[in-house]
Amino acid sequence: MKVLVIGNGGREHALVSKLAQSPHITKLYCAPGNPGTRRQAENVPIAVDNILGLQRFALEQRVDLTVVGPELPLSLGIADAFAACDPPLAVFGPTQAAAQLETSKAFAKKFMWEEDIPTADAKICYNFDVAEKFAREHDYKERPLVVKVDGLAAGKGVTVCSTFTETQQAISRAMRQHIFGPAGDCVLLEQYLVGEEASFHVLVDGETVLPLAVAQDHKRVYTGDHGPNTGGMGAYSPAPVITPALHQRVMSEIVEPTVGGMAARGMPYRGVLYVGLMIVEGRPYVIEFNARFGDPETQPLLVRLHNDLLPLLEGAARGNLGGLQADYHDDAAACVVMAAGDYPEGGSSGVPISGVADAEGLADTWVFHSGTAMEGDQLVTNGGRVLGVTKRAPTLAGAVAGAYEAVEHIHWPNAHYRRDIGYRALRR
Ligand code: AMP
Ligand code: GLY
Repeated sequence: MKVLVIGNGGREHALVSKLAQSPHITKLYCAPGNPGTRRQAENVPIAVDNILGLQRFALEQRVDLTVVGPELPLSLGIADAFAACDPPLAVFGPTQAAAQLETSKAFAKKFMWEEDIPTADAKICYNFDVAEKFAREHDYKERPLVVKVDGLAAGKGVTVCSTFTETQQAISRAMRQHIFGPAGDCVLLEQYLVGEEASFHVLVDGETVLPLAVAQDHKRVYTGDHGPNTGGMGAYSPAPVITPALHQRVMSEIVEPTVGGMAARGMPYRGVLYVGLMIVEGRPYVIEFNARFGDPETQPLLVRLHNDLLPLLEGAARGNLGGLQADYHDDAAACVVMAAGDYPEGGSSGVPISGVADAEGLADTWVFHSGTAMEGDQLVTNGGRVLGVTKRAPTLAGAVAGAYEAVEHIHWPNAHYRRDIGYRALRR
């Protein structure tokens, strides 16, 4: 089989690296890929938002399955475009309509209300004055207020506000200054939930659900959960916050009504559904849906996966997940993200990176590339999140220690990483 992976981050490097082990794959492409994916796949210089270019490439090369990594091509309707080809191209990822669970927070919130799915209360505002009035009446002494722009905002669309002025500024940035473009024409003012987060991934084929292992991300940039939110500074799996009883609740109270409700609305969900959970006093609430794999959660998830990933992705794409199973190593895995010193404000480019091969030489250790590039033979930085150093070990403590041991081998000026990945689970 010929398989095309779309994207160029750590998530896609992890997908490529796992798929490369499949005995069924004769040719693996990655568009556009990065210096990490280049080792196991042929990188193809087509941008993730060039839907026509990707379609043409998949038709010409007779690609049997396309695996969509990021949300942008999903929001542009890549699954619909591929399905409309003659013959149809198989694609792992939801249609544009189904991807609204991620691409419109207002759509997702209304859907959850209709399906009685537990989620934070929110006011959906299409007008600045309405939002400002609601924000003014909120009691900030009791709890902060969360401002979320409706559409995709590259991870920058959520602001936790502790005062009216902060809320007013966040609403104004979205609705008056239009810094997110049309994505900010609607905002949600959401109740702040206090609890522990978990990343709950399931594969879905429109009807059948196959749960994957649970992971936990670390959103804040600095050790101790300080500083601004990021795309994720590290992740580990399994996440003991999700007990077997809680897992069942998430499936019956959230995942099953979501999959059933989307099918009933004529938008059957196919692909991976990533439910961002907040566990509040033992009860799971949805804080967001994503229509794609988490990054960096995918890195620890996939190094723990024992069986071939290809039949699972194909099963979801083709509507025949039934009877398939995901088997995991009992081991735990941890991923430490190494980022540019000024991430998430800025990034780094062209700075030489050393020591990656030494880190990869350690047992059960993977260095997944996110923001890297090649200058001649030299690996250099090229982004905010640069590398995801991932280790699998019999215990989480061992995985975390091993990931940090590998990190110690890798150097570039101003590299930054959190020192406390996995702390919640390790504290338990
Ligand atoms: P989202 O993009 O909706 O996942 O939001 C990004 C991050 O903001 C989440 O991972 C949480 O850390 C935080 N967040 C979002 N919504 C809430 C909420 N209702 N209460 C508390 N924290 C939240
Ligand atoms: N790591 C969080 C996300 O992928 O959205």
